[in-house]
Amino acid sequence: MLGIRGSHLKPKVYVTRLLPEPAMERINSFCDVDVWRGELPPSREVILRKVRDVNGLVCLLTDRIDGEVMSGAPSLRVISNYAAGFDNIDVVEATKRRIIVGNTPDVLTETTADFTFALMMAAARRVVEGDRSVRGGGWRTWGPMTLLGQDVHGATLGIVGLGRIGMAVARRAKGFGMKVLYCSRARRMEAETRLGVQYAEFVRLLAESDFITVHVNLTPETFHLIGKEELEKMKKTCVIVNTSRGQVVDNLALYDALRVGRIAFAALDVTEPEPIPADHPLLTLQNLIVTPHIASASVKTRTEMAMIAAENLIAGLKGELPPHAVNPEFLRGS
Ligand code: DGY
Repeated sequence: MLGIRGSHLKPKVYVTRLLPEPAMERINSFCDVDVWRGELPPSREVILRKVRDVNGLVCLLTDRIDGEVMSGAPSLRVISNYAAGFDNIDVVEATKRRIIVGNTPDVLTETTADFTFALMMAAARRVVEGDRSVRGGGWRTWGPMTLLGQDVHGATLGIVGLGRIGMAVARRAKGFGMKVLYCSRARRMEAETRLGVQYAEFVRLLAESDFITVHVNLTPETFHLIGKEELEKMKKTCVIVNTSRGQVVDNLALYDALRVGRIAFAALDVTEPEPIPADHPLLTLQNLIVTPHIASASVKTRTEMAMIAAENLIAGLKGELPPHAVNPEFLRGS
């Protein structure tokens, strides 16, 4: 088997966490692999040390891979991120150095949309509070006013960012008889017809939605896209769901809005910072559900993501275009 640059030596690869077994087997079959086996991410120092002589790097969204890391890795040809989002990687720096970057989109779309809906339903119908109450001995009788929530069916859902996951959420919402508004960088006429969703300016979406769900990539433009001003425009009964990136929502502004009842409820799978410290003010609130960034966490999806990460890595090491490349321009051009 030919490895890097046509030699018979296996390419050297660093993997920053153990991935599902089939992917590790695939990577091992082609590469000389060093894996970080800790439950927590390797430290910055460890990453800087480990990448010195590698040709490939498989990393997670918890690893910041910037110009410094790349400068310390002169043989690095491919960075394969085990995530659809790649805000943890400085892609501009990678492209400058002709390092191909791969990600794992598509396979997690439906799984993430399922979880977005799970959070929305749990928030609307106060599932977590109900569970807490029962376990705490609070269920003493059937009560006419016990844990009243909001109906999801027939409500208006505002989707911020109508990409793949946003559309998958819209399809589910239609099944629940919801009216769906969306805002996006560009108007999606085809999706409007196919999914029966309506375009709305951001401000209108904020004002008219009963539920708001965020599905944008984290970029300088989307950092704190939902802050104090935006929260003030929402209905007092609004429920906000975030399964994208924590920094898209200003968590301190969210805390203030939830505490004074400016909006009704938030359900977050992602936080700012991440993980959220146990003493963060948000965690003192009852009108909040937080989960530990698990929207894509089904066995099938995480395995498929790992296989894509492996294939991206191997293709990049062979000098081929990976199945999911974030910066394919320079490979196509060469
Ligand atoms: C991603 O892939 O970007 C998710 O946040 C984790 O699966």
